[in-house]
Amino acid sequence: MQITATDTALSNWTGDLLAVGIFEGETELAEDLAKLDEKLAGTISELIADEEFEGKPSTIISSRVGGKSSLRKIALVGLGKIEELNLDSWRSAAAAIARMVKKEKTVGISLPVGSESAETIAQAMTEAIILALHQDNRFKSEPEDKEPKLETVELIGLSGQEQAIAKGQTIAEGVIFARELVNAPANEVTPVTMAQTAQQLAQEYGLEVKILEQADCEQFEHGMGAYLGVGQASDIPPKFIHLTYKPAKTAKRKLAIVGKSVTFDSGGLNLKGSGSGIETMKMDMGGGAATLGAAKAIAQLKPDVEVHFICAATENMVSGKAMHPGDVLKASNGKTIEVNNTDAEGRLTLADALVYAEKLEVDAIVDLATLTGACIVALGNNIAGLWSTDDALAEEMKTAANLAGEKFWQLPMEEKYFEGLKSQIADMKNTGPRPGGSITAALFLKQFVKDTPWMHLDVAGPVWSDAPSGVNNKGATGFPVRTLVNWVNS
Ligand code: BES
Ligand code: MN
Ligand code: ZN
Repeated sequence: MQITATDTALSNWTGDLLAVGIFEGETELAEDLAKLDEKLAGTISELIADEEFEGKPSTIISSRVGGKSSLRKIALVGLGKIEELNLDSWRSAAAAIARMVKKEKTVGISLPVGSESAETIAQAMTEAIILALHQDNRFKSEPEDKEPKLETVELIGLSGQEQAIAKGQTIAEGVIFARELVNAPANEVTPVTMAQTAQQLAQEYGLEVKILEQADCEQFEHGMGAYLGVGQASDIPPKFIHLTYKPAKTAKRKLAIVGKSVTFDSGGLNLKGSGSGIETMKMDMGGGAATLGAAKAIAQLKPDVEVHFICAATENMVSGKAMHPGDVLKASNGKTIEVNNTDAEGRLTLADALVYAEKLEVDAIVDLATLTGACIVALGNNIAGLWSTDDALAEEMKTAANLAGEKFWQLPMEEKYFEGLKSQIADMKNTGPRPGGSITAALFLKQFVKDTPWMHLDVAGPVWSDAPSGVNNKGATGFPVRTLVNWVNS
């Protein structure tokens, strides 16, 4: 599928489907649309009257255009009230149009340009269209949903925005890359295949790649005892993945992105019971998947920033070799951890990954993790938790998120709650009391970063979507690839 930009007048447009945006409460058709309506003998005004169309956000009505018209179908998409217009209005309208496409091969979309720059709009629409059309049918022998056979989508009124479209395309491909990694079950995506995936990315896009094997991890500083403890019951070896993107020019900044990469979380000996969602725990490498998806996009967008992508991949399993609840592990910074719950494994893997990231002498570290059910309880499925030791970094990420249309909410790094992680036997426990569970998780991670500006994103809710059936993007969302890419590019 190709996305193009033109300045074709609506009344001259030819193709299978023309979709035009309408504001809520707009009483008269805009000049361009009125002209087309005239040409179509009033089809558009009739359609609006018949359907009592009000232009509410993302509502769509459509009609065949009869006769010998070189336009086969017309659709009107609601944009909501003009005074409430924001980047999401373009995104959701474009996505709604993409989702109604069945057999059409050529589609034109005309949405007004205003309040945001044409560039921002073109990029957002491109991302929305590609992501709304994406279906993951890899694991069905015969897909029920027929994939649309779209050949071209023309963004009418956005000519000159080819570069923004290309950027949107690259970012959307990074999001899809992450989605497919998360959707793939744990018998397909393992620490070993994740390492292979990283190596392929490195080869294809000229990134540096380093895979630390178990023995290498044992040798790093005081030994990555926390990370290796999590993986010790698995039959599959852990793979500590480190990809690096280096710009051709001198880097204006050095950043590290660390993604939780537990390819399956059984809970360990604190086994997840029935009703715990254990069967969804292939998604527990969602942070790592987004890290790799961002790497793919960033390697192509080539910002003047050096970026390190780190995934401490492993499985949290049960066997005679499993860590026991109560075991004491030593992380690579020398700190000791009493594992009072083996199901709080993500923070153990991240502890060593953060120590490793800080040794790279970067200007900022961001980790992203499907870390706690508590964060989902606090913020629901669509909003990720954000914690940071650095206000400027938090602001940067919020700006990037707004541009991406991904939602975050900053939560407090309440030092007093660290008392809940006090251990009799070790420097800390890995699990605190139930109240404030996502905050104590963030405080735990903080013990493994000394003085580099750092941010923790708990993405347990938004990496997965249980959209109502019939909507083709149920499953992995690819969250927060778009935010990460915007942040690095900012
Ligand atoms: N991977 C889970 C968190 C999770 C839950 C992700 C639901 C996505 C959806 C994490 O490893 C976990 O098990 N967390 C425990 C922590 C508890 C033992 C302190 C939790 O949230 O229950
Ligand atoms: Mn767990
Ligand atoms: Zn987990």
